[in-house]
Amino acid sequence: MTRTRASKSDGISLRGWQREDVTAYRRWLADPRVTEYLEMGWRPISDIQAEADYRSMAESPDNIVFAILDSDTSQPIGTCGLYQIQWPARRAQMNILIGEPSAWNKGKGTQALENLCTYGFMTVNLELIFLGVNAENKGAIRSYEKAGFVHEGRRRNLVYRNGRYFDSLMMSLLRAEWMARSA
Ligand SMILES: CC(C)(COP(=O)(O)OP(=O)(O)OC[C@H]1O[C@@H](n2cnc3c(N)ncnc32)[C@H](O)[C@@H]1OP(=O)(O)O)[C@@H](O)C(=O)NCCC(=O)NCCS
Repeated sequence: MTRTRASKSDGISLRGWQREDVTAYRRWLADPRVTEYLEMGWRPISDIQAEADYRSMAESPDNIVFAILDSDTSQPIGTCGLYQIQWPARRAQMNILIGEPSAWNKGKGTQALENLCTYGFMTVNLELIFLGVNAENKGAIRSYEKAGFVHEGRRRNLVYRNGRYFDSLMMSLLRAEWMARSA
């Protein structure tokens, strides 16, 4: 990680993704509850693949990835980040995963999103953060809505998982919308 910045909230904090986080990441992706709505997790990740994924992410200036730490334990419970940053357009794709199901539905995901958006708009100076989400992933959609993301449209049968296709919803947050919320 070349660019990381910790930020604190009541329930979680963000810090730069590190090599030692890969072990937890492999465990999270092996949990079918975590990957129920995701394309990730369809095959086991080997040590070698995990290391290659880590290196490729850490070496790219276009991905800024964080571990989500539980404030009580200081242990990683998930990851979030800005990916494939397009610098002239100042846009990035956002991904989030809380890999410990016991941490779901406690506001931690929304708080991590809010911290990530603050970093993206205030520090990286982005104009637009966007994402795609499985249309049946109701908890994730609700979390994105709570963080201010706006529905843009639907891509049909984009996601294949567990023997069937799912539509994907496109959502985004503009800098001006985020600033109006933060005012
Ligand atoms: C999606 C995710 C990041 C959300 O994090 P979280 O900490 O659980 O989210 P929050 O607690 O902040 O908010 C979840 C909201 O969804 C609601 N929710 C959960 N399941 C729901 C369902 N089946 N239907 C409707 N609402 C639901 C919760 O009640 C809560 O809303 P509320 O605060 O209004 O009550 C996390 O659950 C996760 O990582 N899941 C596994 C991986 C994943 O799906 N990642 C997203 C890929 S796009």
